Amino acid sequence: MTAASREHWNRWLASWDRQQEAFNPTREARFTAMMDVLESKVGRRFTVLDLGAGPGSFSARILRRFPAARSFALDYDPVVRTVGQGALGTFGGRLRWVDAKLGAPGWTAVLPRRKFDAAVSTTALHWLTPVQLSRLYWDLGRLLRPGGVFLNGDYLPWDRADRDLAGLGRATARLYLRRHGIRPHAEWAGWKEWWAGARRDPALRAAFAEHDRRAAGHPKDREVTLAQHVRRLRAGGFRTTAVVWQVFENRVLYAVR
Ligand SMILES: C[S@@+](CC[C@H](N)C(=O)[O-])C[C@H]1O[C@@H](n2cnc3c(N)ncnc32)[C@H](O)[C@@H]1O
Repeated sequence: MTAASREHWNRWLASWDRQQEAFNPTREARFTAMMDVLESKVGRRFTVLDLGAGPGSFSARILRRFPAARSFALDYDPVVRTVGQGALGTFGGRLRWVDAKLGAPGWTAVLPRRKFDAAVSTTALHWLTPVQLSRLYWDLGRLLRPGGVFLNGDYLPWDRADRDLAGLGRATARLYLRRHGIRPHAEWAGWKEWWAGARRDPALRAAFAEHDRRAAGHPKDREVTLAQHVRRLRAGGFRTTAVVWQVFENRVLYAVR
């Protein structure tokens, strides 16, 4: 961790949350729904893997609500991990930060434990290619204990080849953001502003050097459909899959090992 203060990093974490809310005004409601499912299925004492955790927004909420839980926040971007580590630290020994690239061959080798009660992910897995996603779901099938649960909160599109659904996801998303007072493309402006501001922060210089070396920025949209996620989860050994929360294509996909 660099010498910058906890307050410094907390400001970056708070502004991260604000720009993420511009993409998803229901972000807090979605977090809450996911935690409700966790509590119903695995109780209040569990070990969870947070995939593509960014600066740890969801892990922090989980650890606040469940004082006996532990989280492993995994992300391959050193910039967001530096912010998260600075703002949240180890959360009294209950939060571990993991540097790994999801879906890359052998990514599970760096995990500090072999079994988890649950895995979660928010607004992250749409960054993965279909091949990486298949590998991830297969590996998750091995990492979760029998009865363990996986919850993915993300934009999980309808089938784009279906004429009646084509375009509906994007159109409803536009209307939804407008209703919440978010101007078209303002969400991306907020994202770009956050990254440009972070790049100017001297306390993040070393993290950005590594970020650039890894080319850890946002990739092109992958558009892996909901049906494709479900098929890959089944192939990975998950027995039950269901959408447990949704606003149009913004959904929480739930799977039981
Ligand atoms: C939009 S952010 C969401 C972060 C956080 N889950 C949240 O809801 O605020 C997506 C995160 O996924 C991470 N990510 C994307 N692909 C990844 C991969 N293959 N391995 C690890 N992290 C990845 C990115 O670095 C980024 O921090």
